[in-house]
Amino acid sequence: MSELEPRLAPPSARGHVSVAHLPDYWYVACRSRELRAAPLRRVLLGVPLVLFRDRAGAVGALLDRCPHRNVELSLGRVVASGHLECCYHGWQFDGSGACRLVPGLPGSGEAKGRRVEAYPVRERDGLVWVYPRPDVEPHTEPFPLPLASDPAYTTVVRAFEVEASVHATIENALDVPHTAYLHKGLFRGKGEPNRIDVEVRRWPDRVEAAYIGEPRPPGLAGRVLSPSGGTVEHADRFILPSIAQVEYRLGPENHVLVTSLCTPVTDFVTRLYAVISLRVRIPGWLVKPVLQPIALKIFRQDAEILEAQTRQIRAFGGEQFMSTDADVLGREIWRLMRHAERGAPEAAEEPVVRRLQLVI
Ligand code: FES
Ligand SMILES: [Fe+2]
Repeated sequence: MSELEPRLAPPSARGHVSVAHLPDYWYVACRSRELRAAPLRRVLLGVPLVLFRDRAGAVGALLDRCPHRNVELSLGRVVASGHLECCYHGWQFDGSGACRLVPGLPGSGEAKGRRVEAYPVRERDGLVWVYPRPDVEPHTEPFPLPLASDPAYTTVVRAFEVEASVHATIENALDVPHTAYLHKGLFRGKGEPNRIDVEVRRWPDRVEAAYIGEPRPPGLAGRVLSPSGGTVEHADRFILPSIAQVEYRLGPENHVLVTSLCTPVTDFVTRLYAVISLRVRIPGWLVKPVLQPIALKIFRQDAEILEAQTRQIRAFGGEQFMSTDADVLGREIWRLMRHAERGAPEAAEEPVVRRLQLVI
């Protein structure tokens, strides 16, 4: 289940890692603009894929292994017909994985054994999504991002790779207490802490924490968004299989929605596509120079701490997590992921509600 090798470690710390394998969902493989004329290699759930565009611009996703002699198809090129050509002997494949040409073989073309596994693909909102089960027709569609095309919003997409499991990456993205320490001054951690009511609601496919009556965070990001203070409406959500969403509303004018779409590259490497949609009082052209450096600094701090966490899990051969109520969503996220991995029956549609207080 995991790529971890047990090493010398206390017995209680051996073995368990919060890694779930959820292949029956859509994941972002790349941004549309990353996929131009050349084929692109991407690893998804440990499986190497090659992405390419045919002559009409449609994206194909194939196993990155030529059925002839196993060379990576991503080392090849897309030829004028829109087929993907292997760089070794020139076999050509279309987006469905069918072999369309074997050079030197008269009458060559499609034959069963010459197929490559093809993966379902969707392209929308500037993202290329892949369903990591070959040769199936999925019953679901990728996660909708309606604000990304709403002209009232400025949307920025950023991709990052972190050396951490999807669970650790998501938990970090939705973890409030660390913001006062790891990101002190940038977000929270200045001024007097406040006692905040939190309502956690869990559905079969998602869990949400609503923070009620939180004063505007005193850090730099909050001051830029709402210089006059006020109360924040803040909700954090985890949505199966690997989506973290953070939503802030400051007064009637400011609305920030950060959707982190996490792609499991391998058990301990996660690619995160952050789709940030803002409608804020400060003008759009100011958003980038003012907020981007803060966001990037926050991200770098998170990536470093996640890497440190992964290093420890590797060194000890497993995790030992001691959680409290202050880790509002961490256990809930893992519970949903594990249920989904086991294919556990869905619970009732009514959310399960839990209330708690946090001092932040
Ligand atoms: S290895 Fe691909 S064509 Fe021979
Ligand atoms: Fe963080």
